[in-house]
Amino acid sequence: MLRVAVLVSGGGTNLQSIIDHVEDGRLTGVELAAVISNNAGAFALERARKHGIPALCVSPKQFATRDEFNDALLAAVDGIHPDLIVLAGFLVVIPPKMVEKYPNRIINIHPSLIPSFCGTGYYGLKVHEAALARGVKVSGATVHFVDAGTDTGPILLQKAVEVKEGDTPEVLQRRIMEQAEWVILPQAIQMLADRKNREEQG
Ligand code: GRF
Repeated sequence: MLRVAVLVSGGGTNLQSIIDHVEDGRLTGVELAAVISNNAGAFALERARKHGIPALCVSPKQFATRDEFNDALLAAVDGIHPDLIVLAGFLVVIPPKMVEKYPNRIINIHPSLIPSFCGTGYYGLKVHEAALARGVKVSGATVHFVDAGTDTGPILLQKAVEVKEGDTPEVLQRRIMEQAEWVILPQAIQMLADRKNREEQG
C-alpha cells in the first residue's frame, strides 16, 4: 500500500481527481493518509474532509519566520509517515530539508509541457498566458519529481493538449486540467504504487 500525503493551496480539483480515482477503483494500492494546505480557506481542505481524509492547515501566517514555517510543514508531513508526497496545486516553495529527506518521493503537477513555461513565476494562469502569448499550438501538463530547483526534477509523465483558436487563458487552463492534469496525476501515483508493490513482493 502506498501511503500518500497531498499538499494543496487552492480549489483542489487535482486532489478531487485523485480521490475519485481511489473511490471508484481506478487507482489501487493507495492510501490517501492526509491533505495539508498552507491556506486555511483552501476549498481543497473541504474536499478532503467531505471524503473523511484528515485535513490540516500549516500556514506561514502562523509563524514568525519562514524557517519556523518550513520546520512545521516538514514536521506535519513527517507525522503522516508518507511513502509519497503529492503537490497538487501547492504554491509554496518546498523546504530544501523536505526535498533532501524525501528524494524521488515528492511529485508535482505543472500545467505545461516542461521545459516550456515553467520555473519561477510560472504558476496558475500565468503559465497559460505565456503559452498563448508565444503562440504554441500544443500545450499540456507534466508530472515530475521535485528536486532542489523549480519545476526542474525528472519528468515522470506528460500529456499534450491542443491549443485552439481564440482560447483565453481560462479556457486553456480548464482544458488542460480536464484532459491532462486530472488524468496523468492519478496515473503517476498508480505507477509509483505499482513500483512499491513490486519492491515489497521482492
Ligand atoms: C492546477 O492548474 C495545477 O496545474 C497548478 O495549480 C492548479 C491547481 O488546481 N499547479 P487545483 O487546486 O488542483 O484545482
